[in-house]
Amino acid sequence: MQKEASVREELFEKLKAVVGEENISRDEAVLRVYSYDVSPYKGQPEIVVRPSNASEISEIVKLANEYRIPVVPRGAGSGAAGGAVPVSGGIVVELTRMNRILEIDIKNLQVVVEPGVVHANLNRELAKYGFFFPVDPGSSEMATIGGLISNGGSGMRSVKYGVTRDYVMELEVVLPSGKIVTMGSKAPKSASGYDLVRLFVGAEGTLGIVTKARLKILPLPKSRALVLSAFDDLEKAGKAVVNTFSAGLVPSGIEILDRTAIEAVKKYNPEIDIPLVEALLLFEVDGTPRGVKEEVETIKEVCEKSGAVKIDVATSKERFDQLWSARAMVGAATTALNPDCVRVYEAEDVTVPISNVPRMLLKIREIGEKYGMNIVTFGHIGSGNLHPALVINVLDESEWDKLWKISEEIQTSAIELGGTTTGEHGVGIARAKYMEREHGEALEVMRTIKRALDPNNIMNPGKMAL
Ligand code: LAC
Ligand code: ZN
Repeated sequence: MQKEASVREELFEKLKAVVGEENISRDEAVLRVYSYDVSPYKGQPEIVVRPSNASEISEIVKLANEYRIPVVPRGAGSGAAGGAVPVSGGIVVELTRMNRILEIDIKNLQVVVEPGVVHANLNRELAKYGFFFPVDPGSSEMATIGGLISNGGSGMRSVKYGVTRDYVMELEVVLPSGKIVTMGSKAPKSASGYDLVRLFVGAEGTLGIVTKARLKILPLPKSRALVLSAFDDLEKAGKAVVNTFSAGLVPSGIEILDRTAIEAVKKYNPEIDIPLVEALLLFEVDGTPRGVKEEVETIKEVCEKSGAVKIDVATSKERFDQLWSARAMVGAATTALNPDCVRVYEAEDVTVPISNVPRMLLKIREIGEKYGMNIVTFGHIGSGNLHPALVINVLDESEWDKLWKISEEIQTSAIELGGTTTGEHGVGIARAKYMEREHGEALEVMRTIKRALDPNNIMNPGKMAL
């Protein structure tokens, strides 16, 4: 025991020499802070370090290999599946000091960033040039680019623009051995070799630590519009989404708020002017002013035919911003429904094929009724991605019991409908138990890759059922 303590002391001193005294801590209060993300999972690290460059990270990882201690990379800690929670203890490597935009290369439609750049800051910078990084997570003001890459994140505009995976061109990664490797290409396309970049996107820090990323960017659209459609029946709203695509239209985003989500928003901010119906769909279209006008007309027609009871086109910037803010506040607003309850991030981002969206919506409602719980359902319905938020009194054991059962049923239903338990938040701890069902034999391929790159299992162990 004493030997172990002195070995730990030795490791601490060596890490301190790498990052400097002000960037290392084992203070109990600090360690507590790094024990969580927004999910219900918890695990306390032994040490937190805040490196400033790839060579420091390489030294940290080499030491972790030598001392056989876990390394858990962490961005803003806004993850919702426990991905950055150090369940096996070890060293948390916090990357928020590495927050520089290194290069904005408009001619080549690309940008090079460090992993700790906050998403919204990148887009504020790019807007000055008339460009943007189209992936648009709900947590834009908090989430870091490194976190987005590691979780394979997405958000509001994935319908038309795709997800993080589609925008990462090149990565610099510190491998579990400590080696610093660059993978990918600056060229707009490449057919050369294994697609290692895509392997590392969504690897949740289990294969290494991303220290630099080259991302594709696009020009900002000239025009945008938002169509709000109200439905008195949840399934009809789901079918309107299917009908939109069948009509040959790909909006930039389609979001849904069900009745409880609308109630939550109205309670949270009574000034938001939206009708209280069974479901609201928000369609965003963008492009040239003429194209946008045509698409708005098509969406109105599709929604009318699909049984919308009210259609409202946001023409002013004020109304456009108000409607988007209504969507953005749902997460926080869920708690307004009942002051004794809080939202627990569990079964949060099931995603199914578009044609099964109406069935998934009904299924979530049915499960809620079975357990007598109001499930606040909202999310990126145009990508088949729903956020069924569970709101419970966390001091009541029986509510937790119910929550785990509901979570299991929601996630199982998504898999049965040909979908996945996670469209954007990642596997972490939360979805590890579904990996085998979702991937079958392919999970063994993932484990083989993990063993080959990380034989000592030091990189974020205990995640993704690896
Ligand atoms: C959102 C987060 C929960 O879309 O993904 O608000
Ligand atoms: Zn989301």
